[in-house]
Amino acid sequence: MRLGILISGRGSNMAAIIEAVRSGKIPKSEVSIVISNNPQAKGLEKARAYGIETLVISHKGIKREEHEERIITELRKRKVDFVCLAGYMRLLSEGFIKAFPNRIVNIHPSLLPAFPGLNAQKQALEYGVKITGCTVHFVDEQLDHGPIILQRSVEVKEDDTEQTLSERILQQEHSAYVEALKLIADDRIRICGRRVILKN
Ligand code: GAR
Repeated sequence: MRLGILISGRGSNMAAIIEAVRSGKIPKSEVSIVISNNPQAKGLEKARAYGIETLVISHKGIKREEHEERIITELRKRKVDFVCLAGYMRLLSEGFIKAFPNRIVNIHPSLLPAFPGLNAQKQALEYGVKITGCTVHFVDEQLDHGPIILQRSVEVKEDDTEQTLSERILQQEHSAYVEALKLIADDRIRICGRRVILKN
């Protein structure tokens, strides 16, 4: 499985994926490229430190379709067959989804369908939920919406701030993302409508 990782910022989920591929936790896989839409993304330096090829493809000043076409071209050049969104903060259009059908996954810091979109941890705190978490899911045309591969719950404590809650969710994100990619690499996943069924 040749992975392409798209990021926009810090890249801690990206680093967790790279380490899991290196250690063999995600089998039969390699990370072929890391692409960021944001030239300032901290994750770019991290990826380079792992010796992984990086590219910046800025979305500024070009249409969404053209931006996505450029990304698809670079992914195809490297024969990427699976795309991981790891803090990639742009909605993908239908053209991109169709280029990698059922082959794009995303991580989101809430128990979807609760709190899609930006600042999911802040939304959870403000709503007053007692349990939140993270979700790894296939990507479709709607925001934070496609079939769910797995979820991890995290308890909200009374003295939590956005930062403390985000940190605890992030720890779960890293292992959840690795576990989901391992299921995919081991060919354990079948998508049935909205449901992801695990094969034995
Ligand atoms: C993570 O918390 C991820 O779940 C979130 O952005 C953060 C990126 O951190 N993604 C979304 O909110 C997508 N809707 P990272 O760059 O350290 O992986």
